[in-house]
Order: sequence, then structure tokens, then C-alpha cells
Amino acid sequence: MFQQKWLLAAVLTAITSVPVYAQTTADSVAPEADTDLSTAFDGLSAPARAALDAKNAGTPVVADDWMVAAANPLAVEAGAEVLRNGGTAADAMVAVQAVLGLVEPQSSGLGGGAFLVWYDAETSALTTLDGRETAPMAVTPTVFQDETGEPLQFFDAVVGGLSVGTPGTPRLMEDAHRRWGRANWGGLLDPAIDLAENGFAVSERLAASIAGDAERLGRFGPTADYFIPDGTPLAAGTTLVNPEYADVLRQMAAQGADAIYSGPIAEDIVRTVRTAQGNPGLLALDDLATYRVIERPAVCVEYRQADVCGMGPPSSGALTVGQILGMAEQFDLATLGPDNPESWRIIGDASRLAFADRGRYMADSDFVPMPTEGLVDPVYLESRAGQIKAADTALETVTPGEPEWDHAMLWADDQSLELPSTSHISIVDSYGNALSMTTTIENGFGSRLFVRGFLLNNELTDFSFRTHSDGIPIANRIEPGKRPRSSMAPTIVMQDDAPILVIGSPGGSRIIGYVAQAIIAHLDWGMDVQQAVSMPHLVNRFGTFDIEDGTSAADLAEPLTALGFEVNARGLNSGLHAISISDQLRGGADPRREGIALGQ
Ligand code: GLY
Repeated sequence: MFQQKWLLAAVLTAITSVPVYAQTTADSVAPEADTDLSTAFDGLSAPARAALDAKNAGTPVVADDWMVAAANPLAVEAGAEVLRNGGTAADAMVAVQAVLGLVEPQSSGLGGGAFLVWYDAETSALTTLDGRETAPMAVTPTVFQDETGEPLQFFDAVVGGLSVGTPGTPRLMEDAHRRWGRANWGGLLDPAIDLAENGFAVSERLAASIAGDAERLGRFGPTADYFIPDGTPLAAGTTLVNPEYADVLRQMAAQGADAIYSGPIAEDIVRTVRTAQGNPGLLALDDLATYRVIERPAVCVEYRQADVCGMGPPSSGALTVGQILGMAEQFDLATLGPDNPESWRIIGDASRLAFADRGRYMADSDFVPMPTEGLVDPVYLESRAGQIKAADTALETVTPGEPEWDHAMLWADDQSLELPSTSHISIVDSYGNALSMTTTIENGFGSRLFVRGFLLNNELTDFSFRTHSDGIPIANRIEPGKRPRSSMAPTIVMQDDAPILVIGSPGGSRIIGYVAQAIIAHLDWGMDVQQAVSMPHLVNRFGTFDIEDGTSAADLAEPLTALGFEVNARGLNSGLHAISISDQLRGGADPRREGIALGQ
């Protein structure tokens, strides 16, 4: 059904990588592969090739008018063309997302969900849109438990229909375009339709991800036919076509997102979920028909004379990034500098304290009361930071705090597992609008269910599998219609009511650390956006300090161990895409992935 042909080796000239960030340590459980920097993209425009060279040289791309940064050059080029022709950031996002769903299908797409932060240049207003997946109305609290009440093994829950939530991305694309778009809706899908029909070269990252997940992908016929034709995982450079995806996009072009949420495509989605061999799910046509995008207030935290703004519940992203920064605000990180273990003691323990609150309080606030404002109240964060001030080594114990709250509620700590996945898009258009969108199908390749040329999410496994701990309910437990807690942190940093930085990353719950660190690197340590996204990562969530393997961050391992932290060297597979806005636009793309920033 799907055709493929091999490109001549001669056209697959790989770009030489900068070795310092080459990663060989694949995440032991996440199938999204780490890649080095040698990416092979045939037929890129000269500016896109220059952008790739700039990233590999560690310098930002500079532009005056507009800029787009995302995880795959083909997707970035589609967005750039829209912006070049006078489209808005919302228009460009539609084109970028449609191409990402084709060329980076393991990370995001029509079968997933997304959060979007929008700065409107005309009104100076910030809007956030929640396009998160929802739990089907038929779920029960114990859906991710076995007959003895024990949580299922993670991948037993992930692979198949049970993990599939109602997708939000198609509706979000349409909603954002309706609010802020100028270009013709249907035309925005043309670049993806063209690539799907005429073929694109499988990237190294996609090929490595398929090879690393072949067993799971091979369990379902349509998934195997596409990713492992004739029993062989698709190799980098294979020209792949996806006529079914082109057909879906044509229907979306004609009918809008309704094409996905009702009618034959919706019926195929539901049938695929409910008949998934070994692990059928509960999604129903009504879940799709009633899905809606929700506009929510942005969560903003003041940091170094700027306001760091992002997505509130059901994402824990802005609240947890905001808590880390709110505590870090109490210290002079600029003077301490990025090489000083003291900086990392402060950031590490601020992160641990923030993750303790996240695990206790954060979930879908439409279903559970949350102390949203109390969690980022400066007085509360100053008192939490007091614990770090009073110590000179790693905190011995870290527990959730007691934020200001007018609602007495006893919650138990969350128990959910989030693995690296996802994709991030940053865009500034020529009108001055800015868009930050993090988009996902959750795990690499989501549920592994492939229908009509796209993968379905496994977002429901972002819920806690346990509903209670010692009889006390867990806020992020599954309930019908509820949205699973996310870590996605699409962010716009504002100063004097105007954006100065657009940023976000994939990476499961490490997203929070990646984004917070890059903001500190930019605002405190004066790094440009490319330096800020490239710098080696140090991430602490629950106590262990993850230090990026094979980078200069290793120099901090010994001093942090001496401070009492348990240190763990590993690959840290972020995908930060950032645009800074001052006299000019400067774009940075994460060297750990294949993307670029492109502007004019
Ligand atoms: N599933 C990734 C996230 O929402 O954080």
C-alpha cells in the first residue's frame, strides 16, 4: 500500500556534526531515539541549509521580520513559506504541525494533543489554548490497574487502545487559525499534502526511533505495514509516501477539523481503538463529537524584571517552571555563574521543591480544586526558597508545601510516569505576534495504533495509575472527560507588555528542567538563544541530579556529589526551540534533534 524507493547515496551527504553533544546513551525505555548531529535532508532551500549550518556551528539565526523554529527542517520550511507570504504565526503553525505529523510522526500529529500560548501584537494580550486529550466518558477509576488493584506495567497500558484519549490537535489547529489566521485554511495543508503524496526522506532520527521500537510497532498490522514494510524497519533516506495522510488532510482542508471528529475518519479512529488486539480501548464517537479546545488564563511568574508566562492546568508546565524561577529569584545566579556548583545546588533543590508540589497538587483544575495562584505566590516561593538559603548542602528531605488556598483538601502524592517524547514549535510573525506550542502524542509513536496515515496518542498514561495512596485520593487520577496532567511548558517571556523570548521543549517531565534552565541561561547568564538551548543539561526532579552524558556538565558531577546529591550521567534528549526578540529576532534550535530556526 505504501510505496518507498531508495534515494541515491550520493544525495545523502550528511552534515558533519559537532561532536560535543553527540549522544550514544539511548533512554533505556523511551523509543524516541537520540541522534547525533549528522542529519541528511535532501532538497532543502539555501536558507534552511544555512540555518542547519548555523545550528551546528552554535550560532543563532538572525532575522528582522519573522522567524520559525521547530524539530524538522521540512516542517520549518513549510512554516517559513507561510510567513514569507504574509501569513500569521497561527497560519504558519498549521503548516508546521501538518508537516511534523508526517515527517516526525513519532512525536506529534493529528492523533495527539497540544498547548498553545499566543501573544497578540494588536492587543498586547496573552491567550493560552488547551488542546489536551480527554479521557473517554466510559473510563473507570481502575482502568490502569489489574484485577488485584495493582498498577499495570507502563508499556502494557501504553501499547494498544486503552491509553488513547480524544485527540485535540486538529481542533486546536482550526481554533487558532480561526482566531488569528489570515491565510486560506486549505492552502496551509498543501505543503504536507505535497510531501505525503510525492514523498519525503525518512530522517535519521525517525529511522533510529523505528529501529528501537520495532517489536511494539510490529504488533499492529497497519503500523507495521507503514514503519516496517516487508519486516524491515524503514532506513534513513528511504523516500516514504503516505497517501492516506494526504487524503485526511484534503478532507480537513475541505471540512475543517470536523473531518476528524465525525464521519468516516472518526469511525475508523474509534474502531481501531476499540478493536486493538490484546488491549482494546474505550474511545467512542461521542467523545470525538463533543471534544472542545479550552481557552484558559496564562500563568505568569515575575523573574528578573520579566514575566515568564505559560500554560496553566491541566499542564503543570508553567506552574512548575514558575516555582523553580520564583525560588531562584531569591539568589544571585548571575554572579554565581553557570560553572558554579552553588548555582546548581540552588536550581536543583528549587526543582525538587517544585516537583514535590507538582506531585501533590497539580492536575486538571476543571475536575479537582487546585491552589493555582497560591503555588506561584511570591511570598510562598520566598518561604520555600528559605529552606535552600538555610542550607549549604543538598536538602535532606523535600516535602510538598502548604500554598495559600481557600479550599481545604487532602491529596496524596501523584504516581505517574512520563517519558521523553513530544515536539515544540516557536514562531514570531511579521506583525509581531508570537506563538509557543508544545505538541505531543505522548510516548514515542504514542499508542502504536496507526489509522489513516497518523498515529494515535497514549496520553491517558499521563494520569496516575493509582487513584489513592493510603486511602487518600490522588489529584491526577483518571476520571471520565478529564485531561491528564502534562509537563508541557510552552512559554512566552514578557517585558513591558511585549515578548522577549518564545521557548519550549519536549522531554516528558524533564521539559520543566530544560525550559527553566534555558530561561536562566538567557536571562541570568547572558547566553544567546542558541547557547541557551545548546548548553549541557543538569536536571533534578525528585532528588537525583541527571547530568548530560558526554558533555562538560560532567565537571559538576564531583562537586554536586560532595554537596550530597546523587548524580546520574545520562542522555538528556531535549528539543528546545527558542526565539529571542529585541532589536532583531534570534533563533536557536536544539542540537540534540534535527530542527532548525529559520527567519528573514
Ligand atoms: N505527554 C507529555 C506531557 O504532556 O508532558
